[in-house]
Amino acid sequence: MIASRHPAAEAVAAYSAAMERFWHPVCAASEVGEHPRFAELLGRPLTVVRLGGELACFDDVCRHMGASLSLASVVPGPEGHGTLLRCAYHGWSYDASGRCVDIPARRGVPIPRDARVRAYPARERYGLVWVCLAGVAEAAAGIPEFPEYDDPGFHKTPLRVYEPWASSAPRIVMGALDDTHFPWVHPGLLGDPAHPEPPDHRAYREGDYLVSSYSILQPANETISGQDSGGGLETVSYTNWCTPSSIRLLKAGPAGRYSIYEVVCPVAHDRSLIFLQMARDFDLDPARDAEYVKFEDVIQEQDRPVVESQRPWLLPPLSSRLMLYVRPADLPLIAYQRWMEELGVPQV
Ligand code: FES
Ligand SMILES: [Fe+2]
Repeated sequence: MIASRHPAAEAVAAYSAAMERFWHPVCAASEVGEHPRFAELLGRPLTVVRLGGELACFDDVCRHMGASLSLASVVPGPEGHGTLLRCAYHGWSYDASGRCVDIPARRGVPIPRDARVRAYPARERYGLVWVCLAGVAEAAAGIPEFPEYDDPGFHKTPLRVYEPWASSAPRIVMGALDDTHFPWVHPGLLGDPAHPEPPDHRAYREGDYLVSSYSILQPANETISGQDSGGGLETVSYTNWCTPSSIRLLKAGPAGRYSIYEVVCPVAHDRSLIFLQMARDFDLDPARDAEYVKFEDVIQEQDRPVVESQRPWLLPPLSSRLMLYVRPADLPLIAYQRWMEELGVPQV
């Protein structure tokens, strides 16, 4: 079926080149210690490790004979070289910059200059490891902000990592940005089919983000409202901050504020990993976290089959008319897509 055909290699390469300029989460920070951890970002196999306590990220291919550096060990280096990553196959050892500083089978002579692996900047923030493949100087934006993370007025649920979705990251972000699917995909939880009319939404650029804001009537369920409201509807105001691979939704309802930080690792053009953390300034008992996590798990599981079904795999340019948006309902999506076009993300 033509609609499910994967994009051409050139389209995937152009999509990756646009996305490489952003910081993306690749794994939970708690998963990275002094044992390398394999990760994949935009089709590129990586290894992430802590060398002397500092995060380091390399192409997952040893320069010698191509063994995976995720099998390597962290070892103390010779004087002046800090901690090294030693390949499991023949012991070539790399410093944090990716330079090979020891070839055990060829000691006592200079090490070839091109005996190095490519290293990428890696940062730890919000309990995640972030990588920017294009490098710090080429980064188009900072790490997506999660102000509620450090706000003592908010209580956070534990980080949630979902099984990979068969979708591209911008498609997943748009799935969360889209406010008119609530009655159809999440009836009784986030929307009401008796109220399919779009909210009066605004969408605008602000710094590194596209922001959308709107107020809607949502089913008042106990989990999110913090109180039993008898199953009626309540007005909830949303403000969403989006990047090509992340969205933070800040909901303000009768009970208080509820923040959903959903950041996506674009593993490849057809595979993405969702990391999700919530924060709320009401109903602060940690024992209640499981209810909130369960609620979001249900929402994600409702979204997944629909978003995974969307074709083409990559966001197509507006001019292709492969998606037929309607106004004003799809206004935030149109604004998002326009911005993605400026960034060169959409491809056919
Ligand atoms: S393949 Fe890594 S040292 Fe030989
Ligand atoms: Fe949804």
